[in-house]
Amino acid sequence: MDLIPAPQVAVFDEGGRRYAFGPEPLLGAGPGTEGVARLLRRELGAATGWSLPAAGPGAAADVRLRLDPECGERMGHESYGITVDGTGVELAGASPAGLFWGLQTLRQLLGPDAYRKAPLPGRAWSLPHGRIADSPRFGWRGLMLDVARHFLPKDGVLRYIDLLAAHKLNVLHLHLTDDQGWRVEIKRHPRLTGVGAWRARSRRGHRASPLWNETPHGGYYTQDDIREIVAYAAERHVRVVPEIDVPGHSQAAIAAYPELGNTDVVDTSALEVWDDWGINENVLAPTEAVVRFYEGVFEELLELFPAEVSPFVHVGGDECPKEQWKASAVAQERIRELGVDGEDGLQSWFIRHFDTWLAERGRRLIGWDEILEGGLAPGAAVSSWRGYAGGIAAAEAGHDVVMCPEQQVYLDHRQAGGAEEPVPIGYVRSLEDVYRFEPIPPKLSAEAAAHVLGAQANMWTEVTEDQARVDYQVFPRLAAFAEVVWSRLPEPEERDFAWFEGRMAAAHYGRLDALGVGYRPPGGPLPWQRRPGVLGRPAEGAPPNV
Ligand code: ACM
Repeated sequence: MDLIPAPQVAVFDEGGRRYAFGPEPLLGAGPGTEGVARLLRRELGAATGWSLPAAGPGAAADVRLRLDPECGERMGHESYGITVDGTGVELAGASPAGLFWGLQTLRQLLGPDAYRKAPLPGRAWSLPHGRIADSPRFGWRGLMLDVARHFLPKDGVLRYIDLLAAHKLNVLHLHLTDDQGWRVEIKRHPRLTGVGAWRARSRRGHRASPLWNETPHGGYYTQDDIREIVAYAAERHVRVVPEIDVPGHSQAAIAAYPELGNTDVVDTSALEVWDDWGINENVLAPTEAVVRFYEGVFEELLELFPAEVSPFVHVGGDECPKEQWKASAVAQERIRELGVDGEDGLQSWFIRHFDTWLAERGRRLIGWDEILEGGLAPGAAVSSWRGYAGGIAAAEAGHDVVMCPEQQVYLDHRQAGGAEEPVPIGYVRSLEDVYRFEPIPPKLSAEAAAHVLGAQANMWTEVTEDQARVDYQVFPRLAAFAEVVWSRLPEPEERDFAWFEGRMAAAHYGRLDALGVGYRPPGGPLPWQRRPGVLGRPAEGAPPNV
């Protein structure tokens, strides 16, 4: 039935029988299913025009929802089952989350138009008789959106939560701060957004590009925006993991509060929010005052992102050049005072401090794999981005890991080698390459593999200035990624990519069309998806853009 991600078990009636809905189907919602019933009425109701009134006593419901904890014991807490026969459809979930993923399958079974926000005239709805039993392979099925380099306004974030949910993905990692912008309101430090949330101009294309966009760029989420995003996501069983990147990638914060920088080495009062891309040497000063400042930031953040939503708080930790610390008398004195091993030890001290600080507040720290350098903090989890090695080392040492190797699942990287690919970045990573991505590296012991929570695709936005460009990079590859983290696929080389492509062509591109997603078509970019003359950054050693 062209489901993506493919379910574990799906058996459909060989005779092709279907259950045909009348104009006003009835809904039967068992105890504990109220949240999913509400979404079903709102979202399927919008597409079909149904109001889905509750079936009264003795009346047969066309759509029946129930919780089935036994199914959870067999197949895990996110599992669900669907049965369609002559009496209608029954959706059973091990938990409200399982039920919600079942609802996504139901929507796919109804056809692409079930993703529209209003009914098309004369449309009739039916479901194939059959049975589905399904559950995810991994508990962490994520997408990271970099909303710092180019801001994605709130409605765009809510839309991405819908897109994640439609693909049974359940983690949205928001990269909220970087050199080029600070995107979350922090009430006790208002200049973080007052100054840090915008830049005067942006380089157009990657570093080698001579072009500039002279229009100021900016935006940020108010605390109420964040509460809305988190609640919207929670209703859809998507966890939002916030990232505040320290101690590198911090020029926007330093531009707002120059005392956060290494003031004995650079005149930080002259710094502005960065208008260029790359790794920036203006990093935080390793002082108690800076640590206190960021504790204040994290205090507000913890209130906005409750532990029930995500125990994890991402502290970045990547790409922190040590030149300023080497040159700074203050930093060198800190190294002596703390008795740590040079500048790497200083970075490790910074991360360890927040590991303890978060743990004391019932939270867990996660950071990019550089946090392994200088010794990993005891409770920390790792986002393994520079390949698998960091993730393997962390998992072997008993730390939890999210696999997101840049060689496989960085969606800012170009998806074909053609010259028409817009602002080509990095390696060529085609839809098929992503389909053959394997989150568990073969050399990992079973014990260590149990520490791989799952995987996420990362979308960095230096050269993607708006939603249309982000859509182009993310889709259709996120559909392949979703199948990798949800379904039980064979080993990478055994995977039947033609089968996946067939389902994409038969149904999933149609679903994305109905959802209004500006994906890369299989034949290459449409004229308006190209960016002729804007230079990217093909990976070193990778074939040129031919
Ligand atoms: C990263 O790509 N710097 C995590």
